[in-house]
Amino acid sequence: MKLSVKGLRRIFTHGEESRRALVDITLSIESGEFVAIMGRSGSGKTTLLNAIGGLDTRFEGEVRLGEKSLREMSEAELASFRHRHLGFVFQSYNLLNHLTVLENVLLPSYFGPLRDGGDPLEVATGLLDRVGLGDRLRSRPTELSGGQRQRVAIARALLCRPSVLLCDEPTGSLDRATGLTILQLFEELNREDEITVVLVTHEPHVAAVARRKIRLDEGRIASDQEQEPRWPVEGEGAPPEAEGTP
Ligand SMILES: Nc1ncnc2c1ncn2[C@@H]1O[C@H](COP(=O)(O)OP(=O)(O)OP(=O)(O)O)[C@@H](O)[C@H]1O
Ligand SMILES: [Mg+2]
Repeated sequence: MKLSVKGLRRIFTHGEESRRALVDITLSIESGEFVAIMGRSGSGKTTLLNAIGGLDTRFEGEVRLGEKSLREMSEAELASFRHRHLGFVFQSYNLLNHLTVLENVLLPSYFGPLRDGGDPLEVATGLLDRVGLGDRLRSRPTELSGGQRQRVAIARALLCRPSVLLCDEPTGSLDRATGLTILQLFEELNREDEITVVLVTHEPHVAAVARRKIRLDEGRIASDQEQEPRWPVEGEGAPPEAEGTP
């Protein structure tokens, strides 16, 4: 599914104060791409991802997901579209701690049937096997490490077989080695399952593994380039200074 954004603006207004988070963003992402969105804190990365994912629709301009313009969809249509086509992964995992691992992964199936009509229980256990947690189905998130929690969140995002994964700082709470295993999982999902991956990060070594890098600066696109993915080499020294860190 192609994603396209045209003349996107987002202004947050609180009383007298207004802040321009996105100024004039135009870009498109083809089906199957692996894109990193970079930029310093406050540059608009999350705002852009939320607009692309239809989590926020109070923008000016146009966001199209495949044939559909977000603006033309009702709340219910949008919710159903998100359920069927998009997967979200967040820095803080957003798991429910009172549910088991398996129940967390099954959650999206309570909002509607799986896109291809599969049995949710079977698909969920298969996904948990795939992310290496097949033996932790009955654990609670609080009994898992950060990397394991993020794997549960990814399995949950994959339950409905999305064509696009939107990830906001998915490795931001993980150490570098654990983050790398999560990135390898995204790479595999992109290559083998042809899922489009859009990954927001402020860490250069994370953005380096994508095939395209878009850099935001104060709500505008500062650069947008294809690149040769670069994976950290074992034993590599300290990470380079984070670009754009204030
Ligand atoms: N709900 C909101 N209300 C008011 N201002 C907001 C809101 N959300 C974001 N902003 C402002 O919009 C700008 C962009 O925020 P955004 O969260 O997109 O940045 P970001 O690039 O994701 O930063 P970070 O790397 O810290 O997550 C910031 O100036 C922020 O303060
Ligand atoms: Mg953010």
